Amino acid sequence: MKIGTPLTANATRVMLLGAGELGKEVAIELQRLGVEVIALDRYPDAPAMQVAHRSHVIAMTDAEALEAVIRAEAPHIIVPEIEAIATEVLARIEAEGLARVIPTARATQLTMNREGIRRLAAEELGLPTSPYAFVESAAELAEAAHRIGLPVFIKPVMSSSGKGQSMIDALEDAGNAWRYAQTGGRVETARVIVEGRIDFDYEITLLTVRSMRDGQVVTDFCAPIGHRQEKGDYVESWQPQAMSAAALARAQEIAGKVTDALGGLGVFGVELFVKGDEVWFSEVSPRPHDTGLVTLATQRMSEFALHARAILGLPVDVGQRDVGASAVIYGGVEGKGVAFEGVAEALAVPTADLRLFGKPESYARRRMGVALARGEDVDQARTRAREAASRVRPVAG
Ligand SMILES: Nc1ncnc2c1ncn2[C@@H]1O[C@H](COP(=O)(O)OP(=O)(O)OP(=O)(O)O)[C@@H](O)[C@H]1O
Ligand SMILES: [Mg+2]
Repeated sequence: MKIGTPLTANATRVMLLGAGELGKEVAIELQRLGVEVIALDRYPDAPAMQVAHRSHVIAMTDAEALEAVIRAEAPHIIVPEIEAIATEVLARIEAEGLARVIPTARATQLTMNREGIRRLAAEELGLPTSPYAFVESAAELAEAAHRIGLPVFIKPVMSSSGKGQSMIDALEDAGNAWRYAQTGGRVETARVIVEGRIDFDYEITLLTVRSMRDGQVVTDFCAPIGHRQEKGDYVESWQPQAMSAAALARAQEIAGKVTDALGGLGVFGVELFVKGDEVWFSEVSPRPHDTGLVTLATQRMSEFALHARAILGLPVDVGQRDVGASAVIYGGVEGKGVAFEGVAEALAVPTADLRLFGKPESYARRRMGVALARGEDVDQARTRAREAASRVRPVAG
């Protein structure tokens, strides 16, 4: 393993597919290691583009355009940051040995579709999940909901961040849920997963890192991250989430199995539901996770630093240094070129830190930044992070 000099013939080139706030932090970590960074997204001036050596504005679902950019840039490593990618291109590039895909092309294919990862986890690996069915019409949906038992969650198989997702507790709402799911999918597929509700005590993201140590791939687990979701989007997270020893062991066992099956190197965000000592697998991101933004405040190496190191074949340290929390800062206002007031007040909260992502356009529910804080305990850290986030006020122009 050696790292070249950026912008010269021997540069180590990494291409980010998706240039959002998570990609931005990965890009910064790669820059620190002297890696040449190329960022792609579908709109100009995306967060990671602002800290990359070069960027390209393309639709990453456009197979032809994506393949052309990859061949022209000839990256050594391709790092997907989002799910909506023409993954067949990645499979081809990987098969030809042109670049390494993180974690693997197959993993990106399996996880971009809820059906792929659910069947792998539940049917091949035998991991506990919510009861589920895949349906292709409103009538099938109602039938599956009846069989599984209400309430049920309905999600397009190709969607993320809660898009097209709903929960129903009466069969007469099946038609509405079906129609809503059809609006939220990212591709033209009518397929929908129906999931029985897990009545969990809390949910966690278990950041799981596959990295090289002494010539071997090893798996390490970060301390569990607790989080709160609203409308399919995370609003705050904290680390560590208190868990029984049995639940933590089970969570690590499940995360180990699923990440082993996906393979490759890098950070995975394994989403799990916990009730007492019982743990269910929900889903996995083969990349840093939004709830893991908290690690910027808590770990010796954030999930972004861990990802950068792991994908380069370098050793990692998943140790936690502090108890902390993150709270999302939403756009609130609509428009381009917004400004943020109250930054000084936010940073006056003890231990508080901020990330403002620099997104060129704001919407009411767009994640524009995050507040971070540490504390003696999780409660104090959460209170501080929420307070700091609430002091930041996005304003038009
Ligand atoms: N079967 C279930 N039982 C209980 N709660 C669920 C279930 N499915 C989803 N949820 C709740 O909805 C949230 C979002 O679900 P999920 O993670 O599947 O969607 P998503 O669109 O992929 O979200 P994201 O991309 O933000 O992770 C979960 O974190 C959980 O709080
Ligand atoms: Mg999720």
